[in-house]
Amino acid sequence: MTQPQSFDQPMNKSQTAGGALAESDAHSLSVGPNGPLVLHDVHLVETLAHFNRENIVERRPHAKGAGAFGSFTVTHDVSQYTKAAVFQPGTETKTLLRFSTVAGELGSPDTWRDVRGFALRFYTSEGNYDLVGNNTPVFFLRDPLKFPHFIRSQKRLPGNGLRDNTMQWDFWTLSPESAHQVTYLMGDRGLPKDWRHMNGYGSHTYMWVNAAGERFWVKYHFHTQQGMEFLSNEEAAKLAGEDADAHRRDLYEAIERGDFPKWTMSVQVMPYEDAKTYRFNPFDLTKTWSHEDYPLIEVGELELNKNPDNFFAQIEQAAFAPSNIVPGIGFSPDKMLLGRVFAYADAHRHRIGSNFHQLPVNQPIATEGGQERANQYMFDGQMAFYHSGTAPVYAPNSFGRPYSDWQGTPAESWEADGDLVRAAYTLHAEDDDFGQAGTMVREVFDDAARDRLVDTVTGALGGVTGEVLARALEYWKSIDAGVGSRIEDKVNAR
Ligand code: HEM
Repeated sequence: MTQPQSFDQPMNKSQTAGGALAESDAHSLSVGPNGPLVLHDVHLVETLAHFNRENIVERRPHAKGAGAFGSFTVTHDVSQYTKAAVFQPGTETKTLLRFSTVAGELGSPDTWRDVRGFALRFYTSEGNYDLVGNNTPVFFLRDPLKFPHFIRSQKRLPGNGLRDNTMQWDFWTLSPESAHQVTYLMGDRGLPKDWRHMNGYGSHTYMWVNAAGERFWVKYHFHTQQGMEFLSNEEAAKLAGEDADAHRRDLYEAIERGDFPKWTMSVQVMPYEDAKTYRFNPFDLTKTWSHEDYPLIEVGELELNKNPDNFFAQIEQAAFAPSNIVPGIGFSPDKMLLGRVFAYADAHRHRIGSNFHQLPVNQPIATEGGQERANQYMFDGQMAFYHSGTAPVYAPNSFGRPYSDWQGTPAESWEADGDLVRAAYTLHAEDDDFGQAGTMVREVFDDAARDRLVDTVTGALGGVTGEVLARALEYWKSIDAGVGSRIEDKVNAR
């Protein structure tokens, strides 16, 4: 199966873009066997010119990844919390899941320490629902204005084009809200054994609305049924050299041999009113909700069972976007989420083109009234393929083309009032930057995990000196005094 498939085409010769027979894919047209080439060798010119345009812009973060199709089946009744068709009892929905690393470029090793992307699309009967998450339940930041700065600090220096520990720690320590996610990253989750053996999280707080219009806040969890497994720093470094595509290969081969990976999806549900008084700001993406306060409620099972037929068409051109939601699911006042609602579709217009949504992998299967395609008032543009013939291209119109003109309060909305300000979130009773990170180090990590954390952070501080190093040591002491001192001792002993 890993061999190229035969090409199902009646002609046994290749053709030009214009459909004419290509005389040769091996010999350019030349003046005599040893003479110069001629510009009117249409096939040569076309072949070289198209080759120059084979690559598209890589995703700015999350460039390296792969994915597979599958299905999501609802096993438990959560209709009291959401009316979304995709989560009604017994519903089975086609899915696409793409895994990725964040900072590395297209060809970078899968086993560099990093957060892993977990971008899940449900092709629901009400439109595409994209849950674009990670393998950790929190993130480094709580304001989207910082995101481009953060990503640049994790990539390469402007001068020599090299990655740089100092730049990473400089940003993190000047943005102490990163502490919780940095602790995840420097812990075992920063090096999953492969994508099958890690969890996925929606990370943000989303809104669910039931048929009666009642609203809830939810967080999504996808627990791997394969069990969580990790690589040591040494194993990961070795694999990075031996097989940069180790995680891509693992997923592809598992699915080819019929060993379909599965995840159990659960949600934490918070009553709408609790958000105001919960001890942590429930919309702060650097925080989790205690499972004692909001226990997991099982929803269903996700299985990956079909590899893409074509990597470029179905994975590279897949355009996941947090803005793709469906009735019964809404956003929340999480500023990061609201920033992302803009960012992704804009990235797709740049990376793929303004009609990215017309590509088969991005097309919703759901359409109003059973028509063949969605009734969208988005017209023309680069590579427009589908069109609406002679139907009106404007709304309102008096020639029968449907349009929407509802007004009111959408079910998936919340109330807001106040002056326009530039300000941090209002703190809740137990909000701070280091508390939950410290709890994780002390209560979730065992002794061996804490030892690995000390080793990993010491390694990651390689080459970091002066003011940035001093701040990094303080940062770890603020997370946990004991672990911070051990890191300091180890760094000083180098
Ligand atoms: C304000 C914050 C953020 C911004 C502006 C942002 C922006 C972006 C952009 C522009 C892309 C590339 C999209 C593409 O070219 O197809 C991307 C990819 C991605 N982001 Fe974010 N991001 C943010 C935060 C997050 C967070 C918090 C998560 C996870 C909880 C996340 C998970 C991902 C994933 C998984 C991908 C890869 C999607 C794929 O597989 O195609 N991002 N992000």
